Amino acid sequence: MKSNRWDDHYTEKARKEKWLARSVYKLQEIDRKFKLIRRNDTVLDLGCFPGSWSQYVIGKVGKGGNVVGIDLQKPKAFNPPNFTYMKADIETVDPEQLSARIEPRNLVLSDLAPPTTGIRDTDASRSLFLAERAAEIARMLLKPKGHFVCKIFEDEALKDFKKDLGPAFGQIRLFRPKATRKRSREVYLVATGFITR
Ligand SMILES: C[S@@+](CC[C@H](N)C(=O)[O-])C[C@H]1O[C@@H](n2cnc3c(N)ncnc32)[C@H](O)[C@@H]1O
Repeated sequence: MKSNRWDDHYTEKARKEKWLARSVYKLQEIDRKFKLIRRNDTVLDLGCFPGSWSQYVIGKVGKGGNVVGIDLQKPKAFNPPNFTYMKADIETVDPEQLSARIEPRNLVLSDLAPPTTGIRDTDASRSLFLAERAAEIARMLLKPKGHFVCKIFEDEALKDFKKDLGPAFGQIRLFRPKATRKRSREVYLVATGFITR
């Protein structure tokens, strides 16, 4: 499918502003709306490649904070001292093992996206599976009052996912940033004020 002018606008803007990917504008909009990232925060970025979200977060947390990024692929040309890359498959990694290796986090981000097949139900169920894994990891690693942001496809199962997470957070909202590609069915779940560990 051909990209539209709005898609091109963000791609061009990211190139000019030296971001590693256009998806940075989605996180920027989420952060501006929900005020999630503060100086000195510790952040986990699930699905961090090619690195624009980690790049944005590092700029906001400053030298006193840090980011751990997990993906199957290592971000290239992005290696600030307070960024640690870990190679792992979120589908199979043991959340307990991760929590033994990573200090508690103020914020867990998941921009994880499965390779799409074009088959609606298959893509939605893979996206849901990754979102559920991300939520499991967030519950293990979040500090009290921490936040969780997670990409997920809009689908019937999203309601249950949101409901299941409900008791663990003060508030859960769904948000579709302007930089989302028009043809995409993705939405971001923004869960704030983690209650239990
Ligand atoms: C949309 S990209 C993330 C873009 C990133 N937020 C950025 O701004 O640069 C989605 C990422 O999820 C990763 N991913 C998908 N399935 C994964 C899995 N099972 N384990 C780890 N990473 C996975 C892909 O490798 C891909 O880099």
